[in-house]
Amino acid sequence: MTPVAEASRTDAPAFLAERVPHYQQRIEGVLARMLEIEGGATSRLLEAMRYSTLGGGKRVRPVLVYATGEALGATLDLLDAPAAAVELIHVYSLVHDDLPAMDNDDLRRGRPTCHRAFDEATAILVGDALQARAFEVLAQSTSSLGAASRLEMLRVLADAIGTRGMAGGQAIDLESVKQSLGEAELERMHRQKTGALIQASVMLGAISAGIQGGPERSALATFGAEIGLAFQIQDDILDVEGTTQTLGKRAGADADRTKPTYPSVLGIDRSRAQALACRDRAIAALSPLGPRFAHLGEFANFLVARLN
Ligand code: IPE
Ligand code: IPE
Ligand code: MG
Ligand code: MG
Ligand code: MG
Repeated sequence: MTPVAEASRTDAPAFLAERVPHYQQRIEGVLARMLEIEGGATSRLLEAMRYSTLGGGKRVRPVLVYATGEALGATLDLLDAPAAAVELIHVYSLVHDDLPAMDNDDLRRGRPTCHRAFDEATAILVGDALQARAFEVLAQSTSSLGAASRLEMLRVLADAIGTRGMAGGQAIDLESVKQSLGEAELERMHRQKTGALIQASVMLGAISAGIQGGPERSALATFGAEIGLAFQIQDDILDVEGTTQTLGKRAGADADRTKPTYPSVLGIDRSRAQALACRDRAIAALSPLGPRFAHLGEFANFLVARLN
């Protein structure tokens, strides 16, 4: 394939206007199928799992799995399981993040939070069950992916959401309410609580395409880590600048809870500069890989410019 043809295959504006909506639509159906679970769960638990998972959200993490995997030659069929797994984990994290013991939020994706629509105990179980389902979906032997790749994806995902990743980051978040955090600690918290799962989404796409290591994998790892940090910085900025209406979650909640955030520690202008610097580092990491990944750069732009 000539460089010109390759560039047009991943035409960046068409990617955002056409490919991303296609991925978003696809994951909706995949998730609905993954939540048709026979036996065991009460209908209330299943209803709460579906309520929290279906029909909302930007689906950023599945989009990253599909976009990375497709750029590396994986089929969408092969990418459905990892794309679903990262969204199931993400939804579990939102349901628990909103609980009274954590951020105590009443609104999520424009609707009452899970514990509000159901009850706290159900919301705890929804998170537990979604997390388990994510790993089950990844491990399933019906996938045409080899066992070694599936094992590697399980390892990468577990690492991203455990003590070194999301759970560890959420612990820093909760322990730092009303405390002052230094810039380095703030960055670490954001990289762990949000960046790690976003990075894992990119890595799962790459592993699905058979990328085991080498320069492509480490470039994509840097890309994922940097857009992951940028994503949470923008989330903090939107908490200050957005409205409850556009966000679908309560604006101004971080300040009300005296959470250390990028805007509270660095101010809005420096926060925005940091988000853009992350985006630039992300794009720079991809540039040696050639035009095949131009659309991921475009997605990085979208993530720091987004309004919800
Ligand atoms: C919100 O994530 C929580 C963070 C990790 C910042 P998203 O902004 O991706 O939420 P949805 O999935 O679109 O609702
Ligand atoms: C969420 O961070 C990080 C998670 C792991 C869920 P936030 O607490 O800032 O997310 P929102 O603003 O409630 O979506
Ligand atoms: Mg939180
Ligand atoms: Mg929160
Ligand atoms: Mg937030």
